[in-house]
Amino acid sequence: HGLFTYDPGYGSTGSTQSAITYIDGDEGILTHRGYRIEDLAEHSDFMEVCYLLLEGELPNAKQKAEFEKNITYHTMLHEQITRFYSGFRRDAHPMAVMVAVAGALSAFYHDSTDIHDPRQRTIASHRLIAKMPTIAAMAYKYSVGQPFVYPQNKLSYAENFLNMTFAVPAEDYKVDPVVAKAMDKIFILHADHEQNASTSTVRMAGSSGANPFACIAAGIACLWGPAHGGANEAVLKMLHEIGSTANIKEYIAKVKSKQDNTRLMGFGHRVYKNYDPRASVMRKSCHEVLDALGMRNDPLLKLAMELEKIALNDEYFISHKLYPNVDFYSGIILQAIGFPTSMFTVLFALARTVGWVAQWKEMIEDPSQRIGRPRQLYTGYGERPYVPMNKRK
Ligand code: CMC
Repeated sequence: HGLFTYDPGYGSTGSTQSAITYIDGDEGILTHRGYRIEDLAEHSDFMEVCYLLLEGELPNAKQKAEFEKNITYHTMLHEQITRFYSGFRRDAHPMAVMVAVAGALSAFYHDSTDIHDPRQRTIASHRLIAKMPTIAAMAYKYSVGQPFVYPQNKLSYAENFLNMTFAVPAEDYKVDPVVAKAMDKIFILHADHEQNASTSTVRMAGSSGANPFACIAAGIACLWGPAHGGANEAVLKMLHEIGSTANIKEYIAKVKSKQDNTRLMGFGHRVYKNYDPRASVMRKSCHEVLDALGMRNDPLLKLAMELEKIALNDEYFISHKLYPNVDFYSGIILQAIGFPTSMFTVLFALARTVGWVAQWKEMIEDPSQRIGRPRQLYTGYGERPYVPMNKRK
């Protein structure tokens, strides 16, 4: 179209240069700063991955300790923020609460909203990573009518989050190490995924010079949709709807006929035309966690595995190159840990915050950065004369 290319969904538009994450969709490869996601999930931990995404290198022992200290320093929320929650209906979706509370951070932490000051950028990054688990756990506590549990900095990032979510004053709660490890792995698997819709939203919002808290709130809003982060919640709903292995064939037929635009949730990806490497790790982790929790015979897991097997052998899914993505198995683990489905996308947002922040920082520090401003193909009326009210039909 003359000056620009029409590319709905930006399928062939490179919107930025980036040195953070690489995806080879045909081969099913995902690396962060050159390290394979499988290696990071196996050998690393979430704090280390956060450092890697933000700083570009794996930390040495001293750097890691310092980074963890910086994060734990910021885990508390300003006490006035905790009062926001009571303004929401009890049955508010926790993602609605996340969008609101994350956005409100910019009204409290004025000393880290100057995007031109590198020190303030770093403090904002640490604050966002540190506070997101607290915001998320409080959203959950509010929804079930339990008192908030404050962060405990002697716990690891995942343990602290689980403790704030599941501890109740009446009981001695101790985080199960198997569950904490699984949680940490889920965080690693969701940490970043180059220019997906929510990350592109964060970059777009940030390109105007908006402060990082406002930009991350925009990212959370975008992530909420069922085609993106909302898919993990949608997978569980779908599995419940299918109900039993006997009904799989019928459901697949419905998907193939595109009746009511039904899709197999947790399947397909814009970039991966092969098995999503995160899904392979998640699948293995799902078996390990359910085994450890004594839920090996969980009917949902059985149903998911059978559904995957049937889909992967079906001509429609083969010819459309549709494979399980990261969300196909994550919901089953999260449900086994005890999270309600409404919290699934919240956990995705919590883990993706570091990716959003790293990408936002990279953009701000890129001298070639300019405001994001796509063009359009105008399809409306040509110019016409103004019609006075008494002449209108
Ligand atoms: N089930 C059935 N058919 C599908 C599916 C699916 N899950 N995904 C794509 N297709 C079909 C689609 O109907 C179309 O068929 P045809 O060419 O016959 O018209 C073709 O595949 C291409 O689909 P598309 O919508 O153009 O593909 P896209 O790249 O725009 O969409 C997607 C990618 C992830 C939105 C899509 O695959 C989908 O809706 N999947 C289900 C939701 C889901 O699991 N999302 C999580 C993504 S991974 C986590 C994250 O990063 O958020």
